[in-house]
Amino acid sequence: MGKKKKVYIKTFGCQMNENDSEKMLILLKDEYEPVSSPEDADLILINTCSVRKKPEHKVYSEAGRYKNLKKKKPHLILGITGCVAQQEGENIIKKLPYVDLVLGTQGFYHIKSALRLYQKTKKPVVFTQLKDDFCFPLILPSKDLYCNRITAFVSIMQGCDNFCTYCIVPYVRGREISRPPEDIIQEIETLVKLGVKEVTLLGQNVNSYGLKNKNYPTFPELIKMIAQIKGLLRIRFTTSHPKDLSEELIKVIAEEPKVCKHIHLPLQSGSNRILKKMNRKYTKEEYLAKIKKLRELVPEIAFTTDIIVGFPGESMEDFYETVEVLEKVRYHEIFSFKYCDRPFTPAGKFSEKVPEEEKDRRLKILHEVQGKITQEIYQSYVGKDVEVLVEGRSKRDPEWLSGRTTTNVIVNFSQCQSISGKDLKGKLVKVKITYAGKHSLKGDFLEEIKTEQ
Ligand code: SAH
Ligand code: SF4
Ligand code: F3S
Repeated sequence: MGKKKKVYIKTFGCQMNENDSEKMLILLKDEYEPVSSPEDADLILINTCSVRKKPEHKVYSEAGRYKNLKKKKPHLILGITGCVAQQEGENIIKKLPYVDLVLGTQGFYHIKSALRLYQKTKKPVVFTQLKDDFCFPLILPSKDLYCNRITAFVSIMQGCDNFCTYCIVPYVRGREISRPPEDIIQEIETLVKLGVKEVTLLGQNVNSYGLKNKNYPTFPELIKMIAQIKGLLRIRFTTSHPKDLSEELIKVIAEEPKVCKHIHLPLQSGSNRILKKMNRKYTKEEYLAKIKKLRELVPEIAFTTDIIVGFPGESMEDFYETVEVLEKVRYHEIFSFKYCDRPFTPAGKFSEKVPEEEKDRRLKILHEVQGKITQEIYQSYVGKDVEVLVEGRSKRDPEWLSGRTTTNVIVNFSQCQSISGKDLKGKLVKVKITYAGKHSLKGDFLEEIKTEQ
């Protein structure tokens, strides 16, 4: 076998993009091995995100960096993949004539044939077809790329049918398509054999998994099937659309011990007027009723959310309704964004745009309010014993181990004498929390928790 060529991937955007990058590496693995520096690569891929202006612009600056590299290394192939590739298609070649491959959100599955075609013709290859009935091929995780991994992402569906008025995702990811349950199970079983203990199930809207396919399980049923897999310790999922969060799902979170007690439930706005303009299909009251039900059945549950500030027409009153929800729900953490116009979206044409400085001001207020709440919540962990899945050594201090609670909070802990040297990676352990930082907790190891193997 000849020496393998080298591939460098730069990934922007969400966890689904990270998962897609992993899939591309698996597809290429017979010919290419991954490298961590673009200078060493024969193939550079930029896997892109177009959800907001900022990540979209990053693509062009990132690609610009490789223009000179291509001059020095004429055989270097440069590819743009993912959501900006889907959005722009041929235009990318017009803007950046030194790009060789443009592969969209379904097109990247054909990366090997795209490379073959490019090598034959030496002309740019653009694959940006988006089919409503695309069959996602089963790409099983490989040992070389997944060894030593404790956590992994598993896409269970792609696309979105919701068309929130601000969002580009339905246009660049296409319609909702669920993967067959047997493919998902086989993928997770393979991951577990490779040592993975925790999976995060991914989809734009996981709660509507399987609803279009008569023979598929519903999302809660799928979780129950996955929970049967021996050796898998934890199941997470994201993202849940509040409108489709069913009682059945709440029950599964409450009753299935492997399901983590954390839910990311994007609110976007606390004002019914704005929610309506956003086409979110729920009211503040309906959203809060779901939070209440979740807390009733799963008292220890942690919430996180996404918020958009400065949506067209958002008044100060609307904004303060969002702040009120933050104070009511007391999220562990929020991800907040300034509204920006996106191509194809109806909100791009809405009037009453909020000035940039005002969006900055509102974002700052949100950060202050939420910063205080997060700190209080983190402080409330101090003195408690929590269960942590050990993911490896702490990045900051390699003497410490690091993992997360079921509520998705990072915990760094010191090992005591009696266990130092014992490999706790991939094990569930009990830790006493002694200190609350801004973004993580610190604690002392108490004991290993025995689990089925
Ligand atoms: N499918 C997920 C999230 C997809 S995008 C969901 O429904 O929640 C991730 C986040 O980006 C969104 O939740 C939203 O808060 C933010 N976002 C999307 N479009 C945006 C835009 N045009 N301007 C600012 N933020 C946006
Ligand atoms: Fe975008 Fe809304 Fe779909 Fe989420 S549910 S991906 S915010 S359109
Ligand atoms: Fe971005 Fe595409 Fe994900 S637009 S957020 S990478 S689905």
